Amino acid sequence: MSATHIRSDQDREAREAYLHLAEAADRFEQYVNPHGVRIAAIADALAEAFHLAPQDRKSLRIAARMHDLGEVAMEREYIKRAGSLTDEERTDLERHPVIGEQEAARASADRAVQLLVRWHHEWWNGGGYPDALRQNEIPLAARLLRVADSYAALTDARPFRPAMSEEKAREQLVERAGLEFDPAVVSAFLSLEDFEELRSFASPPLDPEPSPESPTNDGWPFFSSFMK
Ligand SMILES: [Fe+2]
Repeated sequence: MSATHIRSDQDREAREAYLHLAEAADRFEQYVNPHGVRIAAIADALAEAFHLAPQDRKSLRIAARMHDLGEVAMEREYIKRAGSLTDEERTDLERHPVIGEQEAARASADRAVQLLVRWHHEWWNGGGYPDALRQNEIPLAARLLRVADSYAALTDARPFRPAMSEEKAREQLVERAGLEFDPAVVSAFLSLEDFEELRSFASPPLDPEPSPESPTNDGWPFFSSFMK
């Protein structure tokens, strides 16, 4: 077998492993739709807008699929629960990027992918975790991942809250630009041409009076920084 064949077999195996892990993460977080795949598409569109090198784009796509593996490894039931977290739970949850970095290493992801997983909750203003990096200390690809993850989470449903409309999710990104998000990344996001993965899963309301059982926007007591 030629070296090229071996490489392509290894690539295929790696892709299959990533797919499996990403699906496990989506299942654990109870996203209604394939969240990791969607984030990867959105992050890649941003990466293209910022002219990232092909290898950096590839690392970002893989990191997008693997970013919450730490949560899967931690297996905490509070992640699936509606409502706010206790201080103790929040501190515990903030370990997931570092555990995710270790999981990515165990899955043989390269160091660039591992670090993107580690830094996917860093904030532009230094208020994120685990390393409280700020502004350009955060690699651009991690800043792209932060925006893609937040937008995809806002516009998707979880069992305990509905999906937000595209318009409302964009407003949230603008409100948090300069705080959580790099303003230049938000600006690039707003300029993206429409594509399927940007569509919200919010279904148009069939009944103007929601029944008591239906999820309402009251399921949004906190914003993306606290989204799991
Ligand atoms: Fe996360």
